[in-house]
Amino acid sequence: MKKAIVSIFSVFCFCVSVNATALPDLIINIGARSCTSLDGMWKYIVDPLETGYYDYRLEPTKDGFFLDKKQNNPDLIEYDFDTSGSLYVPRDWNTQKPELYYYEGCIWYRTRFDHKKKDDKRYFLHFEAVNYEAIVYLNGKMLGKHIGGYTPFNFEITEDLRVGDNSLVVKVDNKRRKEGVPTNNFDWWNYGGITRSVTLIETPQVFVRDYSLRLSKKDRNMIEGWVQLDGNVGPQEVILEIPELKKKIRLQTDSTGKCTFSEKARPELWSPETPKLYKVNWVTAYESLSDEIGFRTITTEGNRIILNGKPIFCRGVSIHEEAPFRNGGRAYGKDDARTLLGWAKEMGCNFARLAHYPHNEFMVKEAERMGIMLWSEVPVYWTIDWTNPDVLQNAKNQMREIITRDKNRCNIIIWSVANETPLSDARLEFLKSLVAFTRQLDDSRLISAAMEKKEFAPGVMTVHDPLGEYLDVFSFNQYIGWYDGLPEKCDRVRWELPKNKPVLISEFGGGALYGKHGDKTERWTEEFQEDMYKASIRMLEKIEGLSATTPWILMDFRSPKRPLVGIQDDYNRKGLISNYGKKKKAFYIMRDWYKKIEKEELNNK
Ligand code: GCU
Repeated sequence: MKKAIVSIFSVFCFCVSVNATALPDLIINIGARSCTSLDGMWKYIVDPLETGYYDYRLEPTKDGFFLDKKQNNPDLIEYDFDTSGSLYVPRDWNTQKPELYYYEGCIWYRTRFDHKKKDDKRYFLHFEAVNYEAIVYLNGKMLGKHIGGYTPFNFEITEDLRVGDNSLVVKVDNKRRKEGVPTNNFDWWNYGGITRSVTLIETPQVFVRDYSLRLSKKDRNMIEGWVQLDGNVGPQEVILEIPELKKKIRLQTDSTGKCTFSEKARPELWSPETPKLYKVNWVTAYESLSDEIGFRTITTEGNRIILNGKPIFCRGVSIHEEAPFRNGGRAYGKDDARTLLGWAKEMGCNFARLAHYPHNEFMVKEAERMGIMLWSEVPVYWTIDWTNPDVLQNAKNQMREIITRDKNRCNIIIWSVANETPLSDARLEFLKSLVAFTRQLDDSRLISAAMEKKEFAPGVMTVHDPLGEYLDVFSFNQYIGWYDGLPEKCDRVRWELPKNKPVLISEFGGGALYGKHGDKTERWTEEFQEDMYKASIRMLEKIEGLSATTPWILMDFRSPKRPLVGIQDDYNRKGLISNYGKKKKAFYIMRDWYKKIEKEELNNK
């Protein structure tokens, strides 16, 4: 066998002042580590008055449900997980029990697990997401609290893990709140619970906790990044292997366990047509951690989005994290991701807007593998409490957590900071701060937000939003033909939009009940929705500099704001596909338009 000639580079590390706010100690790339899944049936206790947490004077009690006590006559213990019901983790609770359909409040979860702890290892509990607030206890000891329903978090439990039986209790509270992110009003179902996987991670005493690897923004023939070790250790050697590029890069971390590097390399670029990923290994004296990394550049030039140096039209669709085929519920696994993204591909998409919150990691990784670029957003949605500094910190924490988790996923091209937020000075200052924070954490992607259109003169549409000045891509939602007039209005308007930035229409569309047919003038019929999409496309094709569209929405999704019996039945029916996978007539209108755009792009190459 031809011996691979391996070029070994020793790269001197230089200490960089990390000007970004320090990322939380989140462990990334869980799937590649030594893990024990804690998914399965957990016991649960519904606790609407948080009796398991507060005493009768509303002070935190020392004798709460988190102690996971056993019945022991004559002791007075007014709870017992062992004789309680069970909920599946990962899953929302709303779709598991009829009595929990509308439930918003506190539910206690408990699982027990045996563990054979090894002295030379460290142990972490990792939660992919818990909606909305989680307080985690191990063997009666509080590990910490996490706020935010869609981002991962973990706690080290090396000192708290017992050999043998362990009790893990999680207090989950999905109550909507004015100071929440999102706030208490949003158009999707407030699915509560441990909605994504829980994992026990075992690591060496010193391990690769975090890293970044990407193509240099400035030089196509350069890759760059950094690696962060975790553990009490001085400078360590880390070798970055990229076998297919015949690279074995020797790195030396500094006293903080970090090394920043750049290295000449000419990888094949990732694109929707060729979603090339390279196997990489981070090798230390204690472990070898693998990942698959794609390399690409994303920038803008005038009103074009530029991928790998070439303009690209992002043929997208908006997607909620709604489970297909299960009559609602949070989507959570690889199969759900493949179904939803497979439908997007069928529609001719090379792009998707993951609305309105960070989706599970399967969605991001499956999209990367399938060649689908992504817009990822934090749920700064509608009427956020702009003047509350804790709310801004919460939004920043969620942005930091999702950038930590997904920064190595090359298919994410846009971070979005807001959706349809009402104009005010306080809102502008809040979002400017969030944009600056996001750019500080990740200067390699575009930043946008879904603003709102305005009819500033009869038939003249624009977007009057000072936030646009701070964004790389000028995005907005518009519903001419559904909320604003009827489809014929699309032919009577013109748009006045900036010419110096790419324009992305982040929502347009209308509702239809799958299988309801009639004249195209009858709202809720597939024919009405089809006609609306035809009229919308005629209007969109007149917009100069239109670089991307993500119609609202791929699939019908549950929302308590949609009660119309016989038509909505607690579903927002703007899906191009029903929640049972039935394609509506408008799906084919979008598919044919995207096919036409793709063909035109190919002809212009
Ligand atoms: C808004 C909002 C969506 C909502 C949609 C609708 O644009 O961003 O979250 O679902 O309108 O009214 O269907």
